[in-house]
Amino acid sequence: GITRHYKFNIKMQNVTRLCQTKSIVTVNGQFPGPRIIAREGDRVVIKVVNHVSHNVTLHWHGVRQLRSGWADGPAYVTQCPIQTGQSYVYNFTIIGQRGTLFWHAHISWLRATLYGPIVILPKKNVPYPFSKPYKEVPIVFGEWWNADTEAVINQATQTGLAPNLSDAYTINGLTGPLYNCSSKDTFKLKVKPGKTYLLRLINAALNDELFFSIANHTLTVVEADAIYVKPFKTDTVLITPGQTTNVLVNTKHHHFPTANFLMAARPYATITAIDNSTTAGILEYEQPLTSKNKIKKLLLFKPTLPIINDTTFTANFAKKHRSLATTQFPVKVPQKVDKKFFFTVGLGLSPCSKNQQCQGPNNTRLAAAINNVSFVQPTTALLQAHFFNQSQGVYTTDFPTNPPSLFNYTGTPPTNIMVTSGTKVVALPFNTTVEVVMQDTSILGAESHPLHLHGFNFFVVGLGFGNFDPKKDPSKFNLVDPMERNTVGVPSGGWVAIRFLADNPGVWFMHCHLEVHTSWGLKMAWVVMDGKLPRQKLPPPPSDLPKC
Ligand code: C2O
Repeated sequence: GITRHYKFNIKMQNVTRLCQTKSIVTVNGQFPGPRIIAREGDRVVIKVVNHVSHNVTLHWHGVRQLRSGWADGPAYVTQCPIQTGQSYVYNFTIIGQRGTLFWHAHISWLRATLYGPIVILPKKNVPYPFSKPYKEVPIVFGEWWNADTEAVINQATQTGLAPNLSDAYTINGLTGPLYNCSSKDTFKLKVKPGKTYLLRLINAALNDELFFSIANHTLTVVEADAIYVKPFKTDTVLITPGQTTNVLVNTKHHHFPTANFLMAARPYATITAIDNSTTAGILEYEQPLTSKNKIKKLLLFKPTLPIINDTTFTANFAKKHRSLATTQFPVKVPQKVDKKFFFTVGLGLSPCSKNQQCQGPNNTRLAAAINNVSFVQPTTALLQAHFFNQSQGVYTTDFPTNPPSLFNYTGTPPTNIMVTSGTKVVALPFNTTVEVVMQDTSILGAESHPLHLHGFNFFVVGLGFGNFDPKKDPSKFNLVDPMERNTVGVPSGGWVAIRFLADNPGVWFMHCHLEVHTSWGLKMAWVVMDGKLPRQKLPPPPSDLPKC
C-alpha cells in the first residue's frame, strides 16, 4: 500500500438551509466534509488542526484500527480532545477491509455537521465480487437543526429531558424539495440509461434509523459496513446511524424523457417522539439533446416507503444480510466462546444531582444504560490510563456480565427503572472469544438501538423478538455465513446475539449510535489486554497525543 495524506482544518462556516443561516463547525469549510479515498492496505495520515472554540476529536467509524487505537478518536476513551489552536495527526493502516465507511466527530454533538465518507477500494487489480459499476456515488444521510446543535444537547443535559427534534434530514447535506423553502437545496444524481451505478449509502444522522428507496428502481445490496454480502434485491433499504450499505442500481434501458425519480429517506421508529419528515433527492436521466427544449414539465415518480414502525420489514431486512463465505472471503466467526455476556439495553431514569435542575418525574433525569449502568464519561482518556497503568480513580473493571436481576419482560415495565452511574469497563485477555446477547429492555417503550463496537467487526449470529431464551435460541445461531459488521440494530422488543474475537489490544468503546442515547449513558468500553508477542501489543502513543 501507499500513504495518503490529508489535512483537515476544523473551522466555522456559514451555511443556509430551510431559509435560515447559521455558523457550523466544518472540515475545510465543506459540508458535508471531504471524502477520504484509500485502497485496502494503504496508510492514511490525517492532520487535524482545530481553529474553532470547541474541543474536537474525529473518529474513523468502522476502521478496525488494528494496534492503532490511539487513532480511533472517541473523546475521553482513546484520546483527550484537540483543543483550540492545537493539532493531532491520526495515523492508521487499513487492513483487510474494503467498501464504504465514514468519519465523524466523536465529542458532544459535533458530528451533526462534522462528517464525511471513507471509500476503501480493493487492492490494485483486485475486482469487486460483482460486476464493475459504471459510476460510484456516495449518498450520505444527515440530520439538520435550525438551532446550534451544541445548544440543543446542552439544553437537554440541563433539563434532564429529551433534546429538541431536528428540523430536517439531509442527503449529501441537502434537505430536498419536500421541506419548505428548500427545493433549491436538492441533491440531483444525473444518470445515463442502461448503466449500473454503485451507491455508497451512509447514515450519519444523529438519532434516526432511515428507510431509503428510489421510485421505480430496484436496489441490490452488495456490501454493508465494508463487508461484502451475498447480493440480494430490495425496494427499500433500512440503514441505522453508524451503518453503511452499498447498493447497485441498474438504470432503465430506454430514456424516460418525461420523468424524474425521487429518492427518499425517512425514519423507522417505534416511539412517537421523532421527526417524521422526508428528505429527497432526484434521480435524473440525461435528456437526449433533441428533446431538451421540448419538455416543459417532467413527471415525478415518488417511492413508497414502509410505514414508520414497520418492524417486520426491518427484521426481515436484517436477516437477509449474509456474508459471502467464500474461500476468498471466509467467515471467521468464533465457533467456541470463552466469555458470554447478557446486556440489557434501554432507557431509564437517574436521580438528579444537587446542582442540576431536572424536570423529569420525582426530580429525575432521563438516562440510558447497559445492565442498568449508565456510563459516566471520565475527565481523562481511558486508553492512556490503561496504557500507563493509571486506571485508579479513572475506571473500574467491574462492568456487570448480566443485569442486576433476571431479565424477564412480560409486558409490564418493572417498578425499578432507576439506573446507577459509573465508569465501568470489561477487561478481556488477548484473543478471548466473546459472545454478547443484547436485549432491548422496552422499559420506557420498545425501541431499536443501533449498537456500535469500535475496534472490531462482530458476527451477527442470532436475532429474535421477545425475551432471549438461553436454552433454546443458541441452537439456532448461524455459525456458517453470519453477517460481519460494526453496527447492529438491537430489535425493538427483541434481542440480537453477536460474537467477536478480542484480537486488538486497546480500549474499545461500545455504544448506541443514537446520539441522544449515547449522551444519556448507553455506552461502555472493553479493555483488551496485550498479548505476549510483540505483534500482539499496543505500541506507545504518538508524541502529539492531546493532553486533557
Ligand atoms: Cu460512529 Cu463511537 O461511533
